[in-house]
Amino acid sequence: MFRIFRKSLFLKVFSLSGLVSIVLIYFLGSNLYSRISDGIIDEKIAASISEGESAIQYAEYRFIVSGISTKTDYKELVGEVVNSGNLSARDSGREVVLMQVADKELKGIPAVTASNFLLPESIPSSLRKELQGNEELRWQEGTLKYVNGEFLDGVIIGKNLTIPNVGKYEMYVLFGFDAQQRTIALIGRAIWGAGLLLICLIMLVASVVLRQVIKPVKSAAEVAEQLTSGDLLKRMEVRGEDEIARLGQAFNEMADTLEQQISRLENLSRLQQRFVSDVSHELRTPLTTIRMASDVIFSARNSFDPIISRSAELLVSQIERFEHLLADLLEVSRFDAQVAALSLDKVDLNSLVRRCADDLLLSSKDKETQLMISAPDEPVIIDGDSRRLERIMRNLLANAIDHAEGKPIHVTIAENPTEVAVGVRDYGVGLTEQQIERVFDRFWRADPSRSRERGGTGLGLAIAKEDAQLHGGEIRVWGKLGEGSNFVLTLPKVNGQRITEFPIAEAPAH
Ligand SMILES: Nc1ncnc2c1ncn2[C@@H]1O[C@H](COP(=O)(O)OP(=O)(O)OP(=O)(O)O)[C@@H](O)[C@H]1O
Ligand SMILES: [Mg+2]
Repeated sequence: MFRIFRKSLFLKVFSLSGLVSIVLIYFLGSNLYSRISDGIIDEKIAASISEGESAIQYAEYRFIVSGISTKTDYKELVGEVVNSGNLSARDSGREVVLMQVADKELKGIPAVTASNFLLPESIPSSLRKELQGNEELRWQEGTLKYVNGEFLDGVIIGKNLTIPNVGKYEMYVLFGFDAQQRTIALIGRAIWGAGLLLICLIMLVASVVLRQVIKPVKSAAEVAEQLTSGDLLKRMEVRGEDEIARLGQAFNEMADTLEQQISRLENLSRLQQRFVSDVSHELRTPLTTIRMASDVIFSARNSFDPIISRSAELLVSQIERFEHLLADLLEVSRFDAQVAALSLDKVDLNSLVRRCADDLLLSSKDKETQLMISAPDEPVIIDGDSRRLERIMRNLLANAIDHAEGKPIHVTIAENPTEVAVGVRDYGVGLTEQQIERVFDRFWRADPSRSRERGGTGLGLAIAKEDAQLHGGEIRVWGKLGEGSNFVLTLPKVNGQRITEFPIAEAPAH
């Protein structure tokens, strides 16, 4: 879920603007709503107080001017006063309650008289208490309760009055907020409806604007991806003169410069490759002549005095080294020119490895170095170029012998149905992490002085890597300083297949 948001700028900005507008509109809406509803209720309360006050004054006046004395008259007058508002509070009218201060029936007037089926419990006891000994008008918000169980929020206004010749009474006038609440609900619905509409509008505008901005950014990203994947001619579409157009222009200029630089470098490196290849080729003929001449001198070395004879030996070995270097350089330039091709055959890796090992041991100066080979008994046949595979194995084994410091070397051949691997493990000087990173670099040698003794050029592993890749294979390295190293060549058995599993892990178990 969050990944989608992380990946899409549109969704991120769109949802953020949606969220911000919802919060803002919610706060604004609720503020407006509460201000309006408070205003309406306050207005109603103010109107109710003045209406209630005049109703109470009118009742007081009627009691004073009535001049009656019989019980029935009193009861009738009280009934008239209580029901003077001819509409119930439920119909936006008012209710009246007359209560004797001490809740006593006096002269036929009941202790409590209420209009329109209103329950006298509607009068809160706190308001009654406030009225005790207080001649002022008092009011409170409360709930109007009816005999049939109906409820109504409203305001209750109360005042003490005296009925001449009878006693002290409390008169309450009650008004309901029914109509106001209906108005408030209507306004509320309107506010929230408008808010919702506003949010939708904001989101719509945001999405239109975002699309406008994101489209060029997205196309820039796509073009950048295509450029990265090597399509250097891709450019962004530039329209107008705004900031987005400037971005596109700058982007295209950058791509132009990049293309020019890359093609310049490509030309340069092609030139260099050609140079190396040409020089190597040109050197081959004179070298052959020199070699033949040196062979003649070498064969006649016994007739020279010892110093000259030693020089003849040196000459031959250095010419041999030169030939090797030249052959390696030619091979490298063939890889660079991408003209290196496999000459495929069925190769028995098992016997190939044994053959290389035997040859190397014979020619090695470290005669005491042991090579222990553990391999399947039957042949391990793969599609491969035996010349290249032999070159890889010779280099891996020669490197191991060179760096094993006389300790035995373990060579393992392992296979599964689709891959075969050869591991060359030595227990000699080993390699550090940084050295492992550079081991396949051309002309790189961990210790040039050691190689000088032996005549290594540092091209062996670079060529081995290319050879392995040509087969669809890979060479992996493990090494630890002082503990030796492990070079593992993995190849697919069938040409054209990819490696999916590694029969030997480069990190050794022990
Ligand atoms: N088994 C190993 N143990 C320790 N270091 C190694 C081992 N194999 C290779 N190296 C290091 O990697 C360097 C590069 O090896 P690479 O085979 O490319 O060149 P080289 O053996 O020096 O010369 P070349 O193989 O061209 O005659 C070596 O010089 C050596 O420092
Ligand atoms: Mg080597």
